[in-house]
Amino acid sequence: MGGDRQYPRAARGIGRRSALGFGLGLLTAPRLALTQTDPARERPQEGDLLVKIGGDATTALKAADLPLGGPQILAWPIDPANKTVRNGSRLNKVLLLRLDPAGFDAKTRERSADGVVAYSAICPHAGCDVTQWLAPSQRLECPCHFSQYDPKAGAEVVGGPSPHGLPALPLKTVDGRLAVAKPFIGRVGFQQS
Ligand code: FES
Repeated sequence: MGGDRQYPRAARGIGRRSALGFGLGLLTAPRLALTQTDPARERPQEGDLLVKIGGDATTALKAADLPLGGPQILAWPIDPANKTVRNGSRLNKVLLLRLDPAGFDAKTRERSADGVVAYSAICPHAGCDVTQWLAPSQRLECPCHFSQYDPKAGAEVVGGPSPHGLPALPLKTVDGRLAVAKPFIGRVGFQQS
């Protein structure tokens, strides 16, 4: 005798559906887990503040914290709501540079805040951090193969083997602090990624 005969038909149906659902749940759970992203690895989000890498991770940067005329500093985005520093992926490294906005082209001026521009710090050629600042020519330079970028013109490539410019991260200010206005423009990463 089948044990389920003591249950009404509807209940048996629910039981079968539940079992089916449970089975599907087992099948889909790993996929769901994979799609749930770690907030520390998520790319910069609108409203994120910025904290200096190697500095005080609790103090959001203001334009005045950056030297006018360079060099750049590297920063992590931080979610102001839960204080998650998005340092779970090095592709989230942000390069911040403060210059006289009078020299910016239109798109760079639009993306800047208080003279500060933000770009991905990851060189698109082979992934080194773009850490050099050439003050006389006002260019960013990658120390690995010497690709150069013009930060006043959208960080377009102006020398070296890089296949394209640095993705821009539009900024705004919130209560005097630098904040992300929009996600990265362009794909962050490098050729071999
Ligand atoms: S990694 Fe930057 S130029 Fe090669």
